[in-house]
Amino acid sequence: MSKLIVYNDHQPEAPLGVFTEPEDIRRELKPAGVRFERVNASVDLPEGAGQEEVLAAYKHIVDAEMKAHGYNTVDVARIKPDAPNVEAARAKFLSEHAHTEDESRIMVEGSGCFYLHAGDKVFQVECTRGDLISVPEGMKHWFDMGASPRFAAIRFFIRPDGWVGHFTGETIAERFPKYAP
Ligand SMILES: [Fe+2]
Repeated sequence: MSKLIVYNDHQPEAPLGVFTEPEDIRRELKPAGVRFERVNASVDLPEGAGQEEVLAAYKHIVDAEMKAHGYNTVDVARIKPDAPNVEAARAKFLSEHAHTEDESRIMVEGSGCFYLHAGDKVFQVECTRGDLISVPEGMKHWFDMGASPRFAAIRFFIRPDGWVGHFTGETIAERFPKYAP
């Protein structure tokens, strides 16, 4: 189930609000410039399905999204708990960073958790199957896939290096609860 927890950025121990209805999550995130939508992600992906198969299964949604928002490339990140590089994969974006373009994802399997640092708030957004999230360019954030990650996310890009993380050097992520689905 999708879930949003809102915090003051210096009070990770005292959440300001918790939302689980997609419409409430959408409304809470919108003023910060974050797009949150639900899409129909009803395709059960076969164990061995690769990038091409996943994209083919969601072609209509992917095409519409690319056209509507000017994305040029798309790929699929899929990870399972027994992947050999799980710890390194988790660590990669677990510290606060930003990108030079929107970070747009559709979760089509499993779940993962974005922490968005907007002004004096932190929005912890647990994304599950069918969630589309677009974190605006320049917004500080981090992502936790959990210690035993399982997800498949369709990722949209405008430029080939759009995914590169520019790390802030802040330790804020260490003070917030880790993602433990
Ligand atoms: Fe990111």
